[in-house]
Amino acid sequence: MKKSYQAPRGMRDVLPENMPAWQRLEETARHLARLFGFSEIRPPLMEETDLFTRSVGEVTDIVEKEMFSLQKGKTSLSLRPEGTAGVVRAYVQAGYAKRDPLQRLYYCGPMFRYERPQKGRERMFTQFGVECIGSSDPRLDAEVMDMAATFFEELGLTGLEVRMNSMGDGEDRDRYRDAVSDFLSPKLDDFCDLCQSRFEKNVLRVLDCKNPNCGELIVGAPVLIDFLGDENRAHFEAVQEGLRDLGREPCVDTSIVRGLDYYTRTVFEIHAPDLGARSALCGGGRYDHLVRDLGGPDVPAVGFAIGFTGTLIVFEQLGLLEGLERETADVYVIGFSAEQKAAVLQVANDLRKGGISAIYDVDERSFKAQMKAAGKGDHRYAVILGEDELARGVVQLKDLGAKSQEEVPRDGLVEAILRG
Ligand code: HAM
Repeated sequence: MKKSYQAPRGMRDVLPENMPAWQRLEETARHLARLFGFSEIRPPLMEETDLFTRSVGEVTDIVEKEMFSLQKGKTSLSLRPEGTAGVVRAYVQAGYAKRDPLQRLYYCGPMFRYERPQKGRERMFTQFGVECIGSSDPRLDAEVMDMAATFFEELGLTGLEVRMNSMGDGEDRDRYRDAVSDFLSPKLDDFCDLCQSRFEKNVLRVLDCKNPNCGELIVGAPVLIDFLGDENRAHFEAVQEGLRDLGREPCVDTSIVRGLDYYTRTVFEIHAPDLGARSALCGGGRYDHLVRDLGGPDVPAVGFAIGFTGTLIVFEQLGLLEGLERETADVYVIGFSAEQKAAVLQVANDLRKGGISAIYDVDERSFKAQMKAAGKGDHRYAVILGEDELARGVVQLKDLGAKSQEEVPRDGLVEAILRG
């Protein structure tokens, strides 16, 4: 029996009919990136596994369970589970810190995580991300949060929640870690096995456990903002101030911890309440030590990534992005007989040279079949070439929407369509 192949679990084809919605997201991302002064960067889809272990963190779901890794000789490589680590590696490798330290970079492309596929979660998914490397100014935190929210608003999505928190840094974090340990240790036996091992290795990751029972046990745990020192508190407040200056009311959510270890100070998520528990459409924050941890100088940074999977689900639920048509040629050129084949090809060629997309029947089907194909394919025009037309140097230009038809000179066809 012949085997029928399927896309790998958790990965999917974006078919031409689904493409317009994707293109709309990508175009909006690029448009916004330009407006906010970001330049595109394209690091490889794979990096040394160790890069992700060091940046995302050894004791995180991503590194412990979700990486697609392969061994080539002595090198372990992994498909990127997120974009920040690769961008920071590229920043360091390119030597920007010395020659041009403030870099506003963006990317839009696939990420890979070996997660259990479910609504809004895939194993290959697309992120639009920005990384603003080189400044610790709280206005930048506010600016990238505003940019992420603007992305959704540009596409017509309102009612989103932009939630922020501070993860502190340095001593605040140490004091907080101790307080969380003290809070958890009396009930440690009730937590899942993973939490028990994480308690020893990286206690803050217990707060990020997806197990509902553990979720209940952490209710009432200390919150980091109560441990912020003066400097980090001032930063946290300045970010909120910056948001207000941009016309957005900050929404502090002390439960946001983020699933990646590199964050310091500001963290934020954008949620669509309809998507359920794991509803973040966007996650981001500041990572002031990652450049240094990956071998560069001490350069602070802030960024975010928007996931397209969840975004498209919400858009579909709300009926946004509807009515977008699959890309197709504007003109379908039709000939009456095989003898006109060369002329049909020439007309299509003239149209393409004139900047108008055109296709023609390649199977030498009947006139009727060609007309049917032209009507089915969402083309704007059919250009019909009969023997008589050929002899007189004209064509019939049929507007397939308006169902009207006019005779135009062959050498005036491009102009007629552009006028159209
Ligand atoms: P993240 O929160 O892991 O952060 O991912 C950002 C967004 O990517 C999520 O909010 C979600 O929309 C989407 N996402 C994550 N995993 C999946 C999945 N398996 N399937 C579908 N969508 C998914 C980061 O990746 C950080 N690098 C963001 C960042 C950039 N922080 C600073 N700069």
